[in-house]
Amino acid sequence: MCGIVGYVGRKEATPILVEGLRKLEYRGYDSAGVAVLEEDTIQIVKAVGKLSFLENKLQKEKPTGNIGIGHTRWATHGKPSAENSHPHADCSGDFAVVHNGIIENYLELKEWLMEQGHVFSSETDTEVVAHLIEHYYEGDLEEAVRKTLQRIEGSYALGILCKKEPGKLIGVRKDSPLVVGIGEGENFIASDIPAILSHTRKCYLIDDGEICILTPDTIKITTISGEIVNKEIFNVSWDAEAAEKGGFEHFMLKEIYEQPAAFRKTLSGRTAGNKVQFPDFHLPMETVSQWKKIYIVGCGTAYHAGLVGKTVFEQLLRIPVEVDIASEFRYREPLVDEETLVIVISQSGETADTLAALREAKHKGAAVLAITNVVGSSISREADFVVYIWAGPEIAVASTKAYTTMLVAEYLLALYLGQLKGLVSDTLAGEIINALHSLPEATDRILKETAKYKEVAEYFKDKHDVFFIGRGFDWAVALEGSLKLKEISYIHAEAYAAGELKHGTLALITQETPVIALCVQQKTYDKTLSNIKEVKARDAQVLAIAVEGDTEVGKYVDDVITIPEINNFVAPVLTVIPLQLIAYYAAVARGCNVDQPRNLAKSVTVE
Ligand code: G6P
Repeated sequence: MCGIVGYVGRKEATPILVEGLRKLEYRGYDSAGVAVLEEDTIQIVKAVGKLSFLENKLQKEKPTGNIGIGHTRWATHGKPSAENSHPHADCSGDFAVVHNGIIENYLELKEWLMEQGHVFSSETDTEVVAHLIEHYYEGDLEEAVRKTLQRIEGSYALGILCKKEPGKLIGVRKDSPLVVGIGEGENFIASDIPAILSHTRKCYLIDDGEICILTPDTIKITTISGEIVNKEIFNVSWDAEAAEKGGFEHFMLKEIYEQPAAFRKTLSGRTAGNKVQFPDFHLPMETVSQWKKIYIVGCGTAYHAGLVGKTVFEQLLRIPVEVDIASEFRYREPLVDEETLVIVISQSGETADTLAALREAKHKGAAVLAITNVVGSSISREADFVVYIWAGPEIAVASTKAYTTMLVAEYLLALYLGQLKGLVSDTLAGEIINALHSLPEATDRILKETAKYKEVAEYFKDKHDVFFIGRGFDWAVALEGSLKLKEISYIHAEAYAAGELKHGTLALITQETPVIALCVQQKTYDKTLSNIKEVKARDAQVLAIAVEGDTEVGKYVDDVITIPEINNFVAPVLTVIPLQLIAYYAAVARGCNVDQPRNLAKSVTVE
């Protein structure tokens, strides 16, 4: 994780860097810093904690100059402290470096550099890069960077400044995202497009092993060995407004409310009557029919989306589907081959574990299809096929609209493959497609019940533990609901398959452990009611999430929240929305930093 940004041009660099860092804060907020070349000195200012601390410091000591780099940190090597904050410099102060990623062989390099007389001032892996450049510098920064890259192993997006070569900014990428923003009389580097969007819509998407050498008027991109790379310009079609809060108190709430519009976009152009189409790619029948098994891989919320997908694909395609956490998948020696379709799910398209899983799957000969939100992301570029969820920028660390649109994308994809193989009747497809198209309106109705969610959240806000139970799809959604609650409100929450509770966890249920019971899935409805009775018998307070018109469940629980009636197969998309809102309002009531929960980051580009 971490976010990096760089500017070279004719304007004051510091405000541009800080503005860029503000857009990258979702990548980490343990500390922030900038390095700006002021006349013949590289001035470095850094502060522990959120970007606002750096901004306060910059009020007093603001470096002036037209070239600089900036960093927002999510600590990996070395605790969040002033010394460990980026940018890092070499011994002479001639070079400054910002880094996103991990230099895996930094310890041996550090020892070697110390033997050469270099003095380190941080515990970070990054600092070796500054010292290596210093070691190799003989009047040519590009050359020194190339030699440095030959020594370092791991993942990195780097921004590099050199006092002796003013007006030159270098960016490098391997396994961590990097874009170059193309301006007029100015150029930029950044970990992500929003950081430069208020300056330019034209970018180069940098690939692994590429070095970019920027001046105010030129951009040169080369391979590590120095061959020129000619890249296509990528024009950003979404606007900076979409990445702003738009009047909402938090990005998370804005993104929850954006779900109806996001569903429309995910569905747009992909259905025609009873048919699903994907104009984005062509999948030959021969390819599809060779897939005997599906693996779905992702992290966090994306993994939870995969758990819903398992049932969706199994039901519609009647082939086995396994779901794996990306960080587990690659070390499991998964049974994946040419007859496997691996679906990787990732909002950002940059999650290091998911990207590694994708590469492992390709290495084993599997076809890889990505479900992602970010056009031009590493995962979208490396997958064989891509289904974009078109959710628009998601800034809050807690994923909401990306999760629900991932589900919509899975329904569409399963229908598409099922129709291609002749396994899904037009009638069934029509029912599911109609349900998908009813999602925006149904969601709008859920979103109108704000007072109810606030009232429920008020009750939960003082609890220490909350249990979520459900069966089938309801269980998969319960896992996502419990993640939402714990990650932003810091209330301990666990999701259990309702039938499994009696095999141990029931021991934890008391009057003090409220239970949220998901009773949406009709197939298992009666069974879940029995499980509700079990926890009620242990004095738990129970809130049920049920379908409008349910006159039964209210007899057994303390409170009920309903979702509009919808085809049960598609219901998970709606079931999660009250849970998102309860988590949101509970976190607000507890005074938590909703958009930036402690220790977390939106985009996790380290393994
Ligand atoms: C982080 C975020 C989660 C997200 C996960 C996977 O942990 O905090 O919200 O679900 O990464 O991210 P991805 O971008 O791959 O979906």
